Amino acid sequence: MVQLSTNLRTVLVLGDPRLRQVAEPVSATLLAAAVTQELIDSLIDTMRAAGGAGLAATQIGVPLRICVIEVDHNPRYPYKPPIPLTVLVNPELTRLTDEEFENNEGCLSVPGLRGNVARCTEIGVRALDRTGQVLEFQVRGLSAGTFQHEVDHLDGRLFLDNLTDPATLATWDNFERFQKASYLDRVHELIARYGS
Ligand code: NI
Repeated sequence: MVQLSTNLRTVLVLGDPRLRQVAEPVSATLLAAAVTQELIDSLIDTMRAAGGAGLAATQIGVPLRICVIEVDHNPRYPYKPPIPLTVLVNPELTRLTDEEFENNEGCLSVPGLRGNVARCTEIGVRALDRTGQVLEFQVRGLSAGTFQHEVDHLDGRLFLDNLTDPATLATWDNFERFQKASYLDRVHELIARYGS
């Protein structure tokens, strides 16, 4: 069935200063407001329509600490283990280990490019869900990288800021051609170890 979506937003791209804003915390009153609930629906719909693994409010020009994450057989990232739809309001991440892995990331706000970023392998997540309930859980392995990427957006950071080496920056085609095999080796090792 064709579903017409009326609340898709434009995803801002590199160079737009709004991507560099540090987003503001969301109060309980603001979270409950219809306009904020509509914003969350827009984030979910826009993420899904664009094929993203996540989307932060800053990426659609709204400087509030809200992001959404979902991975379900994503064609942009077919190797990513599934993550159920998660709405994070005022998320705080804590590192549970000093161990890092070299992730390879793309971003809807950085069209055409991917690059390597060091991410913590085990993180604690504390946030509110869209109803204001406290969420507290841990994320390990490759999925931990996805959470760190999205929360970085809320602090005005892009994966480009944290490249392990600028020489890893590549087009998607050249990632496939020159980097994918070694990256998938790392990914499979992580998933075997953490199951995510
Ligand atoms: Ni991104």
